[in-house]
Amino acid sequence: MVKRQQLIERYPIPWTEEQVAAFRDTLLAWYDQTGRDLPWRQDQDPYKIWVSEIMLQQTQVATVIPYYYRFIEELPDVAALAQADEDTLLGLWQGLGYYSRVKNMKVAAQQIETDFAGEFPQAYQDLLTLKGIGPYTAGAIASIAFNQAEPAMDGNLIRIVSRLFEIEEDVTLTATQHKIRAYLYQLIDPERPGDFNQALMDMGAMVMTPHQDRPDPHPLKDFDQSYQHQTSHLYPVKKAKLKASKHTYLAYVIQNAAGQFLMRRHTDQELLSGLWHFPLVEQDMVMETVSRGELIDPLWRDFGQDLQALGIKNEALKLLHNRNQYQQTDFNHYGQVKHVFSHRIWQCQLVPLILSPAEEMTDSVNWPEDFIWIDASKLDQIPISTLQKKLLQARLPFDPK
Ligand code: ADE
Repeated sequence: MVKRQQLIERYPIPWTEEQVAAFRDTLLAWYDQTGRDLPWRQDQDPYKIWVSEIMLQQTQVATVIPYYYRFIEELPDVAALAQADEDTLLGLWQGLGYYSRVKNMKVAAQQIETDFAGEFPQAYQDLLTLKGIGPYTAGAIASIAFNQAEPAMDGNLIRIVSRLFEIEEDVTLTATQHKIRAYLYQLIDPERPGDFNQALMDMGAMVMTPHQDRPDPHPLKDFDQSYQHQTSHLYPVKKAKLKASKHTYLAYVIQNAAGQFLMRRHTDQELLSGLWHFPLVEQDMVMETVSRGELIDPLWRDFGQDLQALGIKNEALKLLHNRNQYQQTDFNHYGQVKHVFSHRIWQCQLVPLILSPAEEMTDSVNWPEDFIWIDASKLDQIPISTLQKKLLQARLPFDPK
């Protein structure tokens, strides 16, 4: 992490000292009047602050409150958490999700017992050594429990600062986050850093929310450039999401005489790793192979299919062709499946093939090693993706002779 002083020098805040002082006063006066009365704000016990901050990482305040009370009641301090058994932790966390959060907390509690003699560490850098504690949580604990002038920079604070100063740079970039952190170092109230951070959290949740462009009343409006220019909806600036790319696949649902399906488990290097898939070949690859003249069979060329691209040998390709009477068949009849991932759209043309009993393939064809035949009855026992389920359904109209 770049040092505090370096950041401040690199990104001096474009406000006078008086403006900064007025900003702090206005924010804290609003917080004192309007801030939320939350259970973890009753005292400055670092353990309680920590528990609340970890719970609040992925979960709404209203949901967290009852969980927080139960957790603190059952495990009131670091020592209790360090000794808690898994089932107790699971029970206390059940419903909050992201169970690794509480597992990490137990490890961190043990670290506090062994590395810090059971005493909750106060220094920001020491807090960062604890499992599950990153810059945000370390900042929250250091400021709220130990009155240190450390920002607790989460999405709320990033949005607020980028609106106040109309920061034009992409907030997903490290350099922009450095700038925002530098501004927060200069804005944070050294007398009440914990309240300052929590006031901004409340401001982000209650006034300067993601969807509220013209809050009314807006206690910070005199300091908010984007409010004055009616540009709040433009901040924070985030780089345009990648447009989803389209991919067309041929999806081979191949069954042997015993009704087993030819499938392969995706490797760690592939999308949907660990899940079982029918052979999928990207159509572009097929076309390339066709244009290189490597496809041996005009029928397969017509359908743009390339089992070769799967690593299946020419001889297998011929066999497959000969053993299937598809000459007159329109493959579109067998359905198409569309599947959307976050940034990819897969359009799959289904190619169902049934290998006839008289021509059992397994003896004569060397299927690529990572493909294996899976019993139809096993399909609901192995992990397969939604896409594969859709393919299975889409092939229903196919009626093997
Ligand atoms: N969200 C995360 N931490 C919070 C806190 N201390 N108060 C309110 N909302 C929060």
